[in-house]
Amino acid sequence: MKVAIVNGVNLNFLGIRETSIYGYETLEEINKNIVRHLEGTEINVDFYQSNIEGEIVNYIHGLHKKFDYLIINPGAYTHYSIAIRDAILAIGIKTIEVHLSNVDAREEFRKNSVISDIAVGKISGFGSYGYIMALEYIKQRGVI
Ligand code: DQA
Repeated sequence: MKVAIVNGVNLNFLGIRETSIYGYETLEEINKNIVRHLEGTEINVDFYQSNIEGEIVNYIHGLHKKFDYLIINPGAYTHYSIAIRDAILAIGIKTIEVHLSNVDAREEFRKNSVISDIAVGKISGFGSYGYIMALEYIKQRGVI
């Protein structure tokens, strides 16, 4: 089982940016923890982070017919990137949307996602544990 974990814009600044909202863990620490969590499982993960919308689109295109699932935290792109939405639709990959913060308990504009309605589901507000929750779902569910 191959799973791509994509983090979008500004998520390379985790551990530094708005720590009262996003915590002190860096993206590197989060990813290391994920690798540790998956030891001994059949799940292979590929991590990708970019601040550039088109690069994320190119990366998603590259998953076509090679990956079973996409776990994505698009950052602010969540709220308006039709390009990322269309890339997901173009390759038809099963997608889980993850947010560290509870986007529904913040500013009004964060309640809108252009990804949620094409995703299997959305996990929001559980910090970096959200990525683990998404992987646990995939582990239970397998490839259908
Ligand atoms: C975020 C929530 C977004 O609204 C915000 O723009 C981010 C991070 C989260 O993980 O909580 O950059 O996706």
